[in-house]
Amino acid sequence: MKIGIIGAGNIGGNLTRRLTTLGHDVSIANSRGPETLSALVEETGATAVTAAEAARGAQVVVVTVPLKAVPDLPAGLIDGAAEGVAVIDTGNYYPQQRDGRIGAIEDGTPESRWTEEQIGHPVIKAFNGTYAQDILSNGLPEGSAGRQALPVAGDDAAAKQVVRDLIDELGFDTVDAGGLDESWRQQPGTPVYGNQGDAEAIVKALAEASPERTAEWRA
Ligand SMILES: NC(=O)c1ccc[n+]([C@@H]2O[C@H](COP(=O)([O-])OP(=O)(O)OC[C@H]3O[C@@H](n4cnc5c(N)ncnc54)[C@H](OP(=O)(O)O)[C@@H]3O)[C@@H](O)[C@H]2O)c1
Repeated sequence: MKIGIIGAGNIGGNLTRRLTTLGHDVSIANSRGPETLSALVEETGATAVTAAEAARGAQVVVVTVPLKAVPDLPAGLIDGAAEGVAVIDTGNYYPQQRDGRIGAIEDGTPESRWTEEQIGHPVIKAFNGTYAQDILSNGLPEGSAGRQALPVAGDDAAAKQVVRDLIDELGFDTVDAGGLDESWRQQPGTPVYGNQGDAEAIVKALAEASPERTAEWRA
């Protein structure tokens, strides 16, 4: 598949490594410009582009930048993507450590709902509670005992299936975590966040989540 990744840090870098290894055609962007991505390009064979170019022709786009940077992404970010593109949002709101106060999220808007409003395109929430290192190290063939499972939330059933299939290719089971209105169940501070369990453990952790945003995760 043609995959555009916006953000070349911990998550974007490791997704680039694994997806190129699997044979996907990956374009990768950061904030400082393609010329600063030569080491990753050399390592993986990905193509470095600007953020505005990353979605061009892509069947999957991954938005993996700090939440506070989302409003700075170019307008029309997803324009030019393939029809039916699945847009993955890996983001988390870290008000105290990184992002500052985002009023709509403080008032109860799920983090990924806020992100899709910012970028003007529906998103699928995935990888947000997965350690970047796990993407490189923990993949196992389908059917392996104890295979790590990732929750996936989103409103577009077809796009969600594309994302679940891609995660399976990366070596992980998935659990359907519902629509984006339910996606608070996988936000920071919930039982599923950072949970490396199998599908059964992830289903249980999602069910045990509380919608209350605790003080640690408030501005
Ligand atoms: N680290 C983890 O294990 C982990 C796990 C799950 C989810 N997440 C979440 O995933 C998101 C990304 O995390 P990360 O740890 O990968 O971040 P990171 O290592 O800090 O990398 C952020 C990347 O975003 C790029 N970026 C920032 N502003 C941009 C802009 N305006 N346009 C284009 N690119 C921009 C940065 O480019 P420059 O370097 O050029 O500025 C950098 O490549 C966050 O919301 C985080 O909470 C992280």
